[in-house]
Amino acid sequence: MMYKLIDFKIHGNHDGDLVALEKGNGIPFDPKRVYYIWGNRPDVVRGKHAHKKLEQAIICTSGSCDFILDDGKERKKVHLNNPAQGLYIKHNIWREFTNFSKDCVVMVLASEPYDEADYIRDYDEFKKGENHD
Ligand code: TYD
Repeated sequence: MMYKLIDFKIHGNHDGDLVALEKGNGIPFDPKRVYYIWGNRPDVVRGKHAHKKLEQAIICTSGSCDFILDDGKERKKVHLNNPAQGLYIKHNIWREFTNFSKDCVVMVLASEPYDEADYIRDYDEFKKGENHD
């Protein structure tokens, strides 16, 4: 499994909608960090790395963008445009994201605090990795 798309429970009423995220309730890990990305030019390509251990749940809370995922064997493109849907990515998946709409905000829940040592930023090194499952 390269990724999983998770449909979150929407607590809606006449005023609008709300999604609440916690471990076991939409998120398969205990989030220890949240960050968000916005203001990208449409054609910029971000990401371009894999993680040794980190798991992430990625939510396009506004607008849309494309995630290109690569497990070392094949590449898949996932279009995100729904704030009630999460893209779960486990460790050892190369990711790039691009095709940002002007209003795109990408929120990321991460299983660990920031650690540069957990990054694989070289594609050849990623491809050579022995632990692709
Ligand atoms: P980077 O991982 O290069 O962004 P992307 O891969 O999405 O293009 O991160 C950009 C900068 O932000 C870099 O200097 C590291 C810093 N950063 C943190 O300090 N904490 C974090 O949790 C993240 C994700 C990035």
